[in-house]
Amino acid sequence: MDLAPLHALLPNVVTATYIVSAVLFVLALAGLSAHESAKLGNAFGITGMALALGATIVSAFAAGGSTANLVVSGVLLLVAMAIGGGIGLWRALKVEMTGMPELVALLHSFVGAAAVLVGIDSYAESLALGAAGHVDRVHLVEVFLGILIGAVTLTGSLVAYGKLSGRVSSSPLALPGRNWLNLGALVVALGLGVVFTAVPSPWVQIPCLVLILVIALALGIHLVAAIGGADMPVVVSMLNSYSGWAAAAAGFMLGIDVLIVTGALVGASGAILSSIMCKAMNRSFVSVILGGFGAAPTSGAAALDGEIHEATAADVAGELARARRVVITPGYGMAVAQAQYPVAELTARLSEAGVEVRFGIHPVAGRLPGHMNVLLAESKVPYDIVLEMDEIDDDFADTDVVLVIGANDTVNPAAADPGSPIAGMPVLRVWEAARVVVFKRSMAAGYAGVQNPLFFEDGTRMLFGDAKESVLAILAALPTAESVSGGAAGARLRA
Ligand code: TAP
Repeated sequence: MDLAPLHALLPNVVTATYIVSAVLFVLALAGLSAHESAKLGNAFGITGMALALGATIVSAFAAGGSTANLVVSGVLLLVAMAIGGGIGLWRALKVEMTGMPELVALLHSFVGAAAVLVGIDSYAESLALGAAGHVDRVHLVEVFLGILIGAVTLTGSLVAYGKLSGRVSSSPLALPGRNWLNLGALVVALGLGVVFTAVPSPWVQIPCLVLILVIALALGIHLVAAIGGADMPVVVSMLNSYSGWAAAAAGFMLGIDVLIVTGALVGASGAILSSIMCKAMNRSFVSVILGGFGAAPTSGAAALDGEIHEATAADVAGELARARRVVITPGYGMAVAQAQYPVAELTARLSEAGVEVRFGIHPVAGRLPGHMNVLLAESKVPYDIVLEMDEIDDDFADTDVVLVIGANDTVNPAAADPGSPIAGMPVLRVWEAARVVVFKRSMAAGYAGVQNPLFFEDGTRMLFGDAKESVLAILAALPTAESVSGGAAGARLRA
């Protein structure tokens, strides 16, 4: 049978498959923008990626070549996929929800590394062609940008990984004149870029590439090292955006359309997310891109003095049974304790007894965007009682009890202090409620390392211990509290 016509069709099939994948990626992003459609969005994304991968493998073979070469390429592809897929599967199965941010940061660094390697390989190829008198300036620009963005993404993401996983200090590195250093690096990079593309000699181009690689690697480290713990969420989404642009640059170098589209989608959506996070944290988008945020903090780390009021689980159960309106503001500690399941049960119990229970979610609660929403969805808390910060903030004054479960920075009134590392960051105004119960294990500070005056307020009660154990203890104490209470829940239960 003559397979030649079928073979001739392959490039068209590959292009058509790439278009379908790109549409599926757009649908995936649309799906991921709401809780209800997030699973479908994921399914679209997985299907799009599987199709794109299949088409890329087919295109490698469609390009033709000797049978021996095709066999070697096929084996190399399979081995690479087995190693990469195996590591990915192992990590994905093993990772705890609390470890997701650092895993995401590490994955961003892989995209950066891939863009750098593709850039170097692509330049080596163009060098071989250049020897035969071929110089393509557009391609040289692609190589240059790919290596620049890729290297910044690589080291920036590695530093972010170190900070998020606690391997590197989360306090900002404040080198003198750091903004000038960044600006100087960018100006030198631009100059090197001009020389690299304008002078068609490997004796000039190779040193330019080595220099830009070194500068970009150092810039990535410096940009992210200059950012304090409290501002890491914006950095993570910004690096997400950079990794998208690095992938798009690799797509240009390799001439793979779907990689360009996917990279641009990730780059643009990461940039939009960063802008949303900047607004939520009252930070300027430009200062995030330049790395670091204004002046170094002047206060925040000093220990606070004052009296705290401790409560027992039974006390809190009693307060809840008497309450009409309860708001729960979860934070990173809920994720650490895996307290979301007992919290969901507590919500159901109180709701059944007629107490209005809602959740107030700060945009940077936890360690990655949407962290709390994912945990609450996992434990089947109804979506309609999970509210964003701006939807709930005005209701605290009319709330009987706020349960601050493993949250700290996101409910810290010190944000009003201009010298604080979290100055200007909007926080949930939980202290306006009649009673605030803080669930935590000690008096330790939150992620930003800032002391929290909320713990010393008259209306605050500290419930020390692991959040899951504390909520379970409240659940155990609740029936008695509900039936003896003269309050809303107790009355309804007796009726
Ligand atoms: P944090 O300010 O980090 O506070 C977490 C609290 O949970 C701590 O007070 C800790 O106190 C407590 N905790 C830890 N384990 C616990 C357990 N097993 N049981 C009970 N309590 C426990 O959390 P937050 O309020 O969610 O704020 C998030 C912070 O992370 C912000 O500073 C934000 O900028 C930063 N951040 C966010 C992101 C994203 S994208 N969301 C990414 C990176 C960084 P104890 O140790 O005393 O128990």
